[in-house]
Formats: sequence, C-alpha cells, structure tokens
Amino acid sequence: MKLIRGGKVVNANHTAHYEVLIVGEKIEALIDPKSDTLKSVESWDCEIIDASGKYVIPGGVDSHVHLQLPMSDEAISSDTFESGTQAAAWGGTTTVIDFAGQIKGTAVPDAIESRLAEAAGQCAIDYSFHLSVGDVNKQSLVDIRSTVEAGITSYKLFMAYPDAWYSDDGQILQVMQLASETGAMIMMHAENGIAIDVLREQAISQGKLGSVWHGRTRPPELEGEATHRAIQLAIVAGAPLYIVHLSSLNALKEVSRARDEGRNVFAETCPQYLYLTLEKHLDQPGIDGLRHICSPPLRPSKDKHQDNLWMGLRTDDLSVVATDHCPFCDAEKLLGVEDFRETPNGLGVIEHRMDLLFQGVLTGEITLQRWVELCSTTPARLFGLQGRKGIIAPGADADIVIFNPETEHVLGASSHHMALDHSIWEGIKVQGQSESVISRGSFVIRNRNFVGRAGHGKFLHRSLPEPLR
Ligand code: URP
Ligand code: ZN
Ligand code: ZN
Repeated sequence: MKLIRGGKVVNANHTAHYEVLIVGEKIEALIDPKSDTLKSVESWDCEIIDASGKYVIPGGVDSHVHLQLPMSDEAISSDTFESGTQAAAWGGTTTVIDFAGQIKGTAVPDAIESRLAEAAGQCAIDYSFHLSVGDVNKQSLVDIRSTVEAGITSYKLFMAYPDAWYSDDGQILQVMQLASETGAMIMMHAENGIAIDVLREQAISQGKLGSVWHGRTRPPELEGEATHRAIQLAIVAGAPLYIVHLSSLNALKEVSRARDEGRNVFAETCPQYLYLTLEKHLDQPGIDGLRHICSPPLRPSKDKHQDNLWMGLRTDDLSVVATDHCPFCDAEKLLGVEDFRETPNGLGVIEHRMDLLFQGVLTGEITLQRWVELCSTTPARLFGLQGRKGIIAPGADADIVIFNPETEHVLGASSHHMALDHSIWEGIKVQGQSESVISRGSFVIRNRNFVGRAGHGKFLHRSLPEPLR
C-alpha cells in the first residue's frame, strides 16, 4: 500500500486536496485530508509519499508515438521500446500507443504479431498499438475485423505518402465502413499526397532542394482539403474519425465545422505545431533545417496557425495533444542534405510533451484541468482506456505523476533521455517538472531518479473507444 499525502489532485473535471491510497496496481481511494479515516493511517502498513506543494495528476497518455519505426532501409527511428518508454516516463507519460504497421504486400496479423514481439519485455510503462493500414485489399479487410478482439481498436489510414502508406478514397471508405461496424476509431493522416508529390517533383526540378521546400511543397491548403475529404467520407461511412497531427488553421476549420454539426470528429495536435515554425526552424541551412522535417510540416508564423491551435485546445475543437514522436539522429537526417525528400520525417518530443503543454497553463492559454484532459483523460477515453488510464479515481490503474510546478529546467540533448543526438528543443527553459512517476503502483521515476525496469510495461488490450461527446 502507498499513500500519497499533501498534494493537490488534478483530474480533468475536478481539483482538490486528497490523499491518494494505492493498493497493488490500483487506486483504492481518494481520502479527504480532514476525514477521520486518516487518523488511523499510522497503523496501516503503508508507504507514505509526500506530495506537499505538488500536483498529483494522472499519468500522461501519449496516443501517437513511433518507436523503432523503420522509415526506410537506412533509417529506423532512434528510440527503441526500451529507451522511448523510459524517456516518456521521465516526462510524466505512463502510457504510449504506438503503431503496428501493415505495409504493402504484408498481412495484418503478421504486422501485429511482429510489433508485439518487438515490444515484449522492453517497455518501462504500459503500451498499446493502433493498426496502420497500408494495404487495403480483400484479405486485409477481413483481417482488420478481428483486431478488435485483439485489443487493437483504432486504425490509421494515410491520404499522404503515395509510394508507401497511401490509400485512395475508395479504400479509405471501405475501412471506415468496417470501423462503423466494429466500433473502432479511424485515425487519419490528412494531407493530399497526390498533389504534394507533384509539388515536390516541381521543386526538385527547379533546384529547390533545401529543407524549407519540404514545408513549401506541403501547403496547409492540402491539409485542409484532405481533412475535409476525410470528414465527408467518415460521415458517409458513419465512422468516428480522429485527425492525427493537425498542424494548420485550414484543417482546424474543417474539424471545428464538423464538431459544430455534432459529428464524431476529433483531432490531436502536437507540441511542435504549437511552438515551432517554418521560418524559424525549418528554413535553416543544413542539419539545422533537416532536424525539423516532419509531416505535416511546421507552419509559417505569419498565418497565425499557432494562435488558432491554442484556441482550438481551449474550445475543444482540438481534443488531444500527442507527440507523433519519431526521432532520427543527425546521420539519418543528413540523408537529405542534397534532396530534402531523402530525410526521414519525424521529430523527438516524447519526453517533453507534458512540460511544454504546462507552459500553456502558466501563460493562461489553457487551464490546469484542461492540461490533464488534453494530455491524459481524453486520449484514454478516445482510445478505449476510459476508467483505467487518464484519471485519478478508485478502480483506475495507479498511474500517477507527482508534478512540481515550480522546478525550472532547460531542455536539451545533454540532459534528455531520448536516444537522440540533438534536440529541437535545445535551450528552451521550462517551468514545472514530473518529480516522481508511478506506473500501476510502482515507481518508475522517484525524485528524478529512474527506478523502473524494462518489462514492467504491459500491453494494454484496449476496449472500444468512447467517442461520443
Ligand atoms: O513526420 C512524421 N509525422 N513522421 C511520422 C510518421 C507519420 O506520418 O505520423
Ligand atoms: Zn502521419
Ligand atoms: Zn505519426
């Protein structure tokens, strides 16, 4: 038994001083500090954990990560299941949802089986998988149906990457129809990949080879267009839809309109789209620009995409902040030094999501409870972990972070725990830090020391999402 004493418990819907009683892997009770129950605490066989002056929050749920993802023959994302889940824990995240990717010519069950095998025994925190569907055909449509029984209740589709993961509108509609039957969530990478490929070819033939052209050939209009199309297809199919890594005002307007109409449409954004820009970060020579290549790209500051994304977080048009963590070291990023198309897409963020978003609490962009809701409670609810993760309540898993709102620290490669030789967050000073992190009743981080172990994290067999709003 453990009793977390003296902290302020912050849930998405309520904040108050409670003592949190943990028995085994579960939260047993929230006890009013003035209640008589606590008078007998000395007689309990109970480890007391002091959280005075700290926030006691549900462990973060990062619903979009790519650990050890092979992007090409030459580039695998640099965080393994072991290093990536440890880094996540350092940053206050206790659940990650990665992807089992069915690439063209392969079978869905094989994709799931091999991803389960890669992660088994490696993770410091709990984990699950979405299914990335890269080959919609007769057999995969049969196989996808049975993933729900395997606890995989969300499918990602791609309107981008025509040479790899792309599905056309007919294929997308068929998977959406299936999701409407099974109750699974459709996740969409919404960028018009066919049009983007034309722009990329044109840029290259004009000698526009630098990293900024990655951004300029993926304009926000093509994210807005794809988002609109995805929403219409989801409406026709009757499936719930979740737009991943939403980066632009253009896409946000489409999501907002759909939500105003009462549709089951949701979207996540990521810290990189809230803090980094095309001009300042992507439009730099050499490795500095290449490090910032991700898709969708960082957006120009002039169009006020960021201000609108923060607004979307407040109005609930954006429901989740995930990371899309997909880190590559400089050697891999430099593959595109002569042609931006050769640089693997993705950034390292998994460790800093909670801290970066907490800056939004300090500046008044979002409330403390909204921070918890965006980073933990809603991703748990939308991906079938409701009641189990993302909440401090009796019966939930004891995934708890003791967060010190005062600690200041500077982000950077020399102090982070991601397996990454640079940091796109280098030198950024933040206030607030996860001091101790508990996963299913066991410390993973204790007073800023790692005390967890590979293999503590369990595969989460997820229920159907609870998408209704
Ligand atoms: O650049 C990105 N986003 N890399 C990860 C793959 C994806 O599309 O989510
Ligand atoms: Zn994507
Ligand atoms: Zn991704």
